[in-house]
Amino acid sequence: MSYPYQIKSFQEYKEAWEKSVNDPESFWGEIAEHFIWRKKWDKVLEWNFKEPSIKWFQGAKLNITENCLDRHLKTIADQPAIIWEPNDPHEHHRTLSYKQLHFKVCQFAQVLKNNGVTKGDRVCIYMGMIPELAIAVLACARIGAIHSVIFGGFSAQSIADRLQDAKAEYIITCDGAFRGGKDIPLKSVIDDALVVCPFVKRTIVYTRTRTPVSMIKGRDVWWEDEIYKVETMGNPAVAAEEMDAEDMLFILYTSGSTGKPKGVVHTVAGYMIYTNYSFVNVLQYRPREVHFCTADIGWITGHSYILYGPLSAGATSLMFEGIPTWPDAGRFWDIVDKHKVNILYTAPTAIRSLMSYGLAPLENKKLDSLRVLGTVGEPINEEAWHWYDEHIGKKKCPIVDTWWQTETGGMLISNMAGVTPAKPTFATLPLPGVQPVLVDENGNEIEGNGVSGNLCIKAPWPGILRTTYGDHERCRKTYFSTYPDLYFTGDGCLRDEDGFYRITGRVDDVLNVSGHRIGTAEVENAINMHAGVVESAVVGYPHEIKGQGIYAYVIYSGKHHEDELIRKDITATVSRIIGPIAKPDKIQFVSGLPKTRSGKIMRRILRKIAEGEMEKLGDTTTLLDPAVVDDISKGKL
Ligand code: PRX
Repeated sequence: MSYPYQIKSFQEYKEAWEKSVNDPESFWGEIAEHFIWRKKWDKVLEWNFKEPSIKWFQGAKLNITENCLDRHLKTIADQPAIIWEPNDPHEHHRTLSYKQLHFKVCQFAQVLKNNGVTKGDRVCIYMGMIPELAIAVLACARIGAIHSVIFGGFSAQSIADRLQDAKAEYIITCDGAFRGGKDIPLKSVIDDALVVCPFVKRTIVYTRTRTPVSMIKGRDVWWEDEIYKVETMGNPAVAAEEMDAEDMLFILYTSGSTGKPKGVVHTVAGYMIYTNYSFVNVLQYRPREVHFCTADIGWITGHSYILYGPLSAGATSLMFEGIPTWPDAGRFWDIVDKHKVNILYTAPTAIRSLMSYGLAPLENKKLDSLRVLGTVGEPINEEAWHWYDEHIGKKKCPIVDTWWQTETGGMLISNMAGVTPAKPTFATLPLPGVQPVLVDENGNEIEGNGVSGNLCIKAPWPGILRTTYGDHERCRKTYFSTYPDLYFTGDGCLRDEDGFYRITGRVDDVLNVSGHRIGTAEVENAINMHAGVVESAVVGYPHEIKGQGIYAYVIYSGKHHEDELIRKDITATVSRIIGPIAKPDKIQFVSGLPKTRSGKIMRRILRKIAEGEMEKLGDTTTLLDPAVVDDISKGKL
């Protein structure tokens, strides 16, 4: 494949950005010409941020899998689409060419149809990182079913919440998943979730770990048996369902500052074009290169940059089942050498964690196939940036620091590898089509350089979320009402003297732990469910490896065992309610929380205490009981 819209110089970038802002319709319309449509659009863009209502390529008909699979059959059918590296390095890797992936997606699409799944149905996917996960996702897209992938680290309760919110009647899962030395019993977690979700009609279970599972008659079927049935039907090639440009492609749940996680909705055409465009330009993909995005498909990064972006670009995408530190901290580097990886796209947390093992795991690793490095998910600190540059990229690979969100579908602010300037810890400049603005607390735009404010975006790009599933008002309130006519990101941001952007972190009550988004309110609700807990307040604090750690202040009045045991019990409760990813790192028992006279918890003070900045607590005289601050400070962990 060639990419006529791949930007090749800083000058070209500047021109593309100007054009995208002055005439977004012809800018994106021209790019869209390079995709496969059943019918072209009547109008490129219609929008307002008031409702919000955002429509890209209205009137167009297409199927995203024809763009990701069918179109490559004429040109690169035998090229690897997915290279899969298993958790255990002794197990053989698997390669699926575009032809093989197409065949398997059609086969599984037929399985879905045989099991009653039709266009518009919601299908929940809860699997480990195996090729069948990619196949399941694409098979849904092929028949127009809406997939909702849930990360394997979420608990039964979290799954049940999501199933109920999406009214998902179909589930695709595995007996279990391998992750490092662990074997996670996925089907058994699903079974617990289904106790409160009687509306689920069918669960399709793929065998991965041979963990014993209970299969309920009439509800649960084996993936392998269902494939066998399709084989005996003669493997009919399932035609791709014709979709409207603005039909839903998927729902992905993400945490916010209040309430339960919300289902971010992305639609077919705009998302496809934006993930492809950003993949090709930011990572500067070249045909036949091997691209390794280390994210899990349970998060947006995996959706956009393991699956849809790379596959629509005819790239070879490497999918890894395991974790960077198992069986040892050289695993990523072994994979890079084994598969001659050219592009490595990972999270700062992974880099910091690998850094902590020193340079020994890098001995005898060549890493000479690497050409581009990338990071995503959280701010990267200088030290980690330089380590990545020096020891992994050998100072020869451009590093792209890509800022974006579940809601944005794809990268919004990032340098383009080797094409636009990089600056350590800076996401740098907006992609074409993206107009960042910084605003002060009153919503006034802060102009000029060398300033900081809250980061908003002025106009829609094709990958922007369209709604939050089942609750459009929540979407409006969360993203489009804080500052009128702007999309509010929830992030704080600095624009330096050169006009480069540096994301400084969330300004709302959302934590970013190891690049995973977790709402403080969610964690508090989970802690408060523990018997004996009266009240709690959760804040983030700087954590050397995870970026942010979770610090919980808890008022406990239950029967007093020793503190350490209660801490473990509370942690177990959080694990049970949300999942192991939300476990607090520190739990401090307190007698009271700093509240204003109106009863609001002053989190700013708690944050400062957790950060160890006692001298910067600020004015505490407006508190209901200022003495409580002293007590809390003294008990800091
Ligand atoms: O705070 C920003 C941070 O991650 C948040 C989005 O999280 P999520 O929706 O889970 O998506 C993560 C993967 C795209 C943002 O609001 N974030 C993401 N990328 C960066 C970042 N912070 C700093 N630098 C980044 N490159």
